[in-house]
Amino acid sequence: MRNSVFPSLGDSLRNQANFTRADEQDDALFYSRDRLVSHLDSLASGTIVDLIDRLVVEENPEILDLMASWDSHIPARLRSCKINGLGMNETELKQNRDLSEYVVHDLNRDGRLPFPDGSFDVVLNTVSVDYMTNPVEVFREAARILKPGGLFLVVFSNRMFPEKAVKIWRESSEEERILLVEEIFRETGAFDATEFFISKGRPRPADDKYAGSGTPSDPVYAVYAEKSGKDASAKSRPRARSIMEGEMNKEMLETKKRRIHKTLECPYCDEKMLKWAVPENPFEATWENEYLYICFNDNCPYYVRGWDHVYRTTSRIASYRFMYNQEKDICSPIPVPSAKALRESIID
Ligand SMILES: C[S@@+](CC[C@H](N)C(=O)[O-])C[C@H]1O[C@@H](n2cnc3c(N)ncnc32)[C@H](O)[C@@H]1O
Repeated sequence: MRNSVFPSLGDSLRNQANFTRADEQDDALFYSRDRLVSHLDSLASGTIVDLIDRLVVEENPEILDLMASWDSHIPARLRSCKINGLGMNETELKQNRDLSEYVVHDLNRDGRLPFPDGSFDVVLNTVSVDYMTNPVEVFREAARILKPGGLFLVVFSNRMFPEKAVKIWRESSEEERILLVEEIFRETGAFDATEFFISKGRPRPADDKYAGSGTPSDPVYAVYAEKSGKDASAKSRPRARSIMEGEMNKEMLETKKRRIHKTLECPYCDEKMLKWAVPENPFEATWENEYLYICFNDNCPYYVRGWDHVYRTTSRIASYRFMYNQEKDICSPIPVPSAKALRESIID
């Protein structure tokens, strides 16, 4: 069985100092200003709509958009469903055409959700989990108001109001935030195993105001789980397991690996690998060759997915990069504890 809790992450969740913000004034003050803006670029917003469409398998679900604004990213198929919204700004909520009802409620003042037990099939939380000062309480409440087997989908990116985001979020890397949200789910003890979604490294849409800045489209991450206690005999379409967007099929991957000695391109992301000098270390056995080739692309799916894989299998925060030994024509992973690791020996 998987080693369930990574102690330092669990401890971090229980340390209230990690949930302080640069702006500790009443949230009502910050959110009194109407923000009828898009928080993500159009490609990322579309990715969220598609993800909701994919994961909400219920026929006519009752949905809560937790921490809602003017857009709930609801796919056309679900627009006629009963959708409730909870947020801070009434003007934004009023403009939200997806919502059938809404309530203004400050979760950081009162983490209890103003809904009866088991009243929703789906709870969505989009680009807002970083503002929760008591996330375990709120996630527990999400479980309470969900029906058994109901979906809690927490979506996030890397943009934020930094003054209102909690300290631990600001100080974590994007990969660590996935682990953090997974840990919040686990800490409640009320959900089945979490799954994740990652979509990153895609080109920024040409119509975006930051197009041409060299930055890719806003990444979309999600962690989701079903409330425990689902009736196993109930007939429903199973929800998708963890998803990495843009995964290629095995055959294509093998073809790329066969050509790697010529291309020196990472078969997972097609970026040129960099020549890396094997460090001389008299105390540790290393490789016999002088040089290896490593993919240093931080958006490479092999490396991005590695964070979750290593954590799930070893409870350690680390990943691995794709490595190629040209002399022996062998591919293998090389473990890395951080994005910076190994870079000092790049010679290309
Ligand atoms: C970045 S916006 C995201 C809005 C929306 N979910 C979306 O996907 O566009 C953050 C939202 O979190 C909500 N929010 C922030 N602090 C909150 C609090 N203390 N209680 C309830 N909602 C809060 C605000 O109303 C705001 O709409």
